[in-house]
Amino acid sequence: MSGRLASEYNAWKKLQQTYDAEHSRIILKDLFAQDPSRFAKFSKEYVDTTDKNTTFLLDYSKNLITQPILDTLLSLAREAELETYRDKMFAGEHINTSEDRAVLHVALRNFDDFKIREAGADEVGGVLAHIKEFSEAIRSGSWKGYTGKTINTIVNIGIGGSDLGPVMVTEALKHYAKRDLTALFVSNIDGTHLAETLRLCDPERTLFIIASKTFTTQETITNAESARDWFLAAAKDKAHVAKHFVALSTNTKAVTAFGIDQANMFAFWDWVGGRYSLWSAIGLSIAIYIGYDNFEQLLKGAHGMDKHFKETPLENNLPVLMAVIGVWYNDFYGAQTHALLPYDQYLHKFADYFQQGDMESNGKFVTKGGQRVDYQTGPIIWGAAGTNGQHSFYQLVHQGTKLIPADFIAPATSHNPIAHSKHHRILLSNFFAQPEALAFGKTESEVRKELGSGASEALVKSKVFEGNRPSNSIMFPLMTPRTLGALLALYEHKIFTQGVIWGINSFDQMGVELGKVLAKNILSQLNQPSDVTGHDTSTTGLIHYYQKHRKE
Ligand code: F6P
Repeated sequence: MSGRLASEYNAWKKLQQTYDAEHSRIILKDLFAQDPSRFAKFSKEYVDTTDKNTTFLLDYSKNLITQPILDTLLSLAREAELETYRDKMFAGEHINTSEDRAVLHVALRNFDDFKIREAGADEVGGVLAHIKEFSEAIRSGSWKGYTGKTINTIVNIGIGGSDLGPVMVTEALKHYAKRDLTALFVSNIDGTHLAETLRLCDPERTLFIIASKTFTTQETITNAESARDWFLAAAKDKAHVAKHFVALSTNTKAVTAFGIDQANMFAFWDWVGGRYSLWSAIGLSIAIYIGYDNFEQLLKGAHGMDKHFKETPLENNLPVLMAVIGVWYNDFYGAQTHALLPYDQYLHKFADYFQQGDMESNGKFVTKGGQRVDYQTGPIIWGAAGTNGQHSFYQLVHQGTKLIPADFIAPATSHNPIAHSKHHRILLSNFFAQPEALAFGKTESEVRKELGSGASEALVKSKVFEGNRPSNSIMFPLMTPRTLGALLALYEHKIFTQGVIWGINSFDQMGVELGKVLAKNILSQLNQPSDVTGHDTSTTGLIHYYQKHRKE
């Protein structure tokens, strides 16, 4: 991020030349045949320096890379001054330049290791203590609702980063959950989301957690107001709100105006980006659901990865390796997307979570310096838990016309070893098979041999797998809070690294604003057709159709 476009770096030019000259000769089958130690060279085991049980294997050998290509990719990261920007982030420099803010989610899980001077960084421990005290009061039953009953349902009302992290983590760590407590999440402004959630709630036993960094987000405030109306329809007295509504926010004034007791507000700071906020007070629903100690383990797992990212030379730095390999596909192979494919049902929200994490961070066409880029930036992130995807979209991944780099992620041991781990063995056999099939495919001669002499040419062709489709595989012993923390931070730092290489600001989200402004204007015009002004004929036509057909 030296002020130059990434395409001006020497390493970028070299990579382009390498791609042009060599890419047709980069064949995984040959690379593995030529080098029996390829797996040993292109895989690394991560071990948390303070907890050896927090470990995972990253196998990146099934990528379309050679050592010289990887070396040049790492030179690209150096030319972009990755190490300098990484150190600036950890030092609390205002690297979110458009908003003049530090980027310090790493301070939320620091446990006094890194010296961070930004205002608020010294208050993290106090907020964690508040989260601990409150989550324990809910879980133990010492916190009572307005009729003296204990809380059995928590409803997190938030959207984007104030929803996706808590949703994903409570799902991922459900094994550790207090099973007599139900955690529900309302995000969408569509009244159906709130209405269907409230059907599951008893006002006497429900705690609403209003999660909004700004406390101005239209969806969240509208949902919170309607939830309060629903609650008051039963509780009658506004004084009871204090027992059933808490807020997670940086905006004390708006929280108080909503009627939430300041004692029930959990603070955080402007240097926590929404999509990096699950580690902050936004994680309250996680702490209540899995217990504070497990929440702290999650933070510690992320902190271990922070240390790895901060201190490890780029050659061995796992987020950096994943990032530069991603750049290779995104910018030279022209890959449009990146799939996240966890073979772990508990991670079924992982791709949804990193859709925001990656696409809101790196979906930008202008550099920090205001120049339009002449290359691709962030990929489209998508995916689903295995093996479901195999029966839907994998056809295209294997035989379609697009290159889709993918990460396969799986635990060696299941929390649910039913039928003597029969299920898990079948799951993992698929986890091992899919990257193998993608990489090595099935040749025409193999198909011919299989089908015998009478097979039609068309059938033969349709059964060929070209292979040479790249993937990473990540495997860990067991899905624990600490391991999840490490994995999430791995991807966060991957996203950071790619943003630095592309020269963009990964920490603002200007692209969400225009639609919000237009929707506000349109909302004021919905009453009658004569109010609808200032739009193109398509938008006007659509609004008129709605006005004609609505029944309210
Ligand atoms: O969609 C834009 C966004 O600002 C996200 O970045 C953020 O996570 C989400 O809205 C919710 O914002 P808030 O926590 O302020 O309600």
